[in-house]
Amino acid sequence: QRAATGEAHGKAILFGEHAVVYGAPALALPLPELKCRATVRRTAGPDAGVSRTRFPAPGPHGTQGEAAGGITEELLLLLGAFTERTGLDTSPALEIRLDSHVPPCRGLGSSAANARALVRALDALFGTCLDEQEIFDLVQVSEQSAHGSASGIDALTTGRERPVLLTDGQPRTPAVGADFHVVVADSGNSGSTKKAVGMLRDAFARNPDHRTRFVHRSTGFTRAALDDLAAGHLPAVGRRLTDCHQLLAGLGLTTDRTDALARIALDAGALGAKMSGGGLGGCVVALTTTVAHAESVSTALTDRTGARTWTTAVAKGAGH
Ligand code: PMV
Repeated sequence: QRAATGEAHGKAILFGEHAVVYGAPALALPLPELKCRATVRRTAGPDAGVSRTRFPAPGPHGTQGEAAGGITEELLLLLGAFTERTGLDTSPALEIRLDSHVPPCRGLGSSAANARALVRALDALFGTCLDEQEIFDLVQVSEQSAHGSASGIDALTTGRERPVLLTDGQPRTPAVGADFHVVVADSGNSGSTKKAVGMLRDAFARNPDHRTRFVHRSTGFTRAALDDLAAGHLPAVGRRLTDCHQLLAGLGLTTDRTDALARIALDAGALGAKMSGGGLGGCVVALTTTVAHAESVSTALTDRTGARTWTTAVAKGAGH
């Protein structure tokens, strides 16, 4: 039987996580090193309707050894939405396989990467020629279920090559005035984005002033960082990154482990470091300049904590 594939990748958030759920701007980076591939096949045989989700065994590049049997509820919702949108009857005779290098529950956009890879594979298999907006909308069906209330930053960034600024609900490409590298370090602890988003929703319902203050401060950091980034002032971007970690720590989103990773990255000479994504575990991002700088920060993190790390390069580029 004919099979089709679709790809997406992970992402890390530099500025604005959680505040973006309340309309504040956020800046995210694609992590093309962390690929996710969906393979979809029509089948009438004994495998009909069977879905498999596979995460590769631990390897030298820090892949994840977690195997999940069956397809998640979010992806089932996505399949339903695809069927509705296209009028095609898909689910009874599909075999779906996901091979993901995006570790789940680490704030790296694994659910959005799975969803986007699957939509692309379905689009290729059924020749539906979905446009970018339709793909985004379908990924968001899955994301709303995965996060509780999803801003769309993950759904966007898992399909883009350049950094993404989400502002007023619109994606833009921010100007980058200097090349840089970001080291992503995994705390090894799962953090549930849904739980973190729910925790803040409850806290803000009790204290609306806290929400206003948080959104205001996060917006201030993101806007200032965008100016610094456009001007190529990386040390200033780094300082704001560290300030942002403190802001998120004040909301109870960091853990001893993510606090320690951020501190070690700073001690090793990173320009700034913060937790990234949903929090309550997950990853830390550290800002560095050259490859050599990134390597020395990454080595310090691994040597001192055993954390696995990934490094991504961002090249200078115009905004639009
Ligand atoms: O933890 P992740 O990778 O799913 O990122 C979530 C980002 C949040 O701002 C916490 C939620 C959202 O939908 O924007």
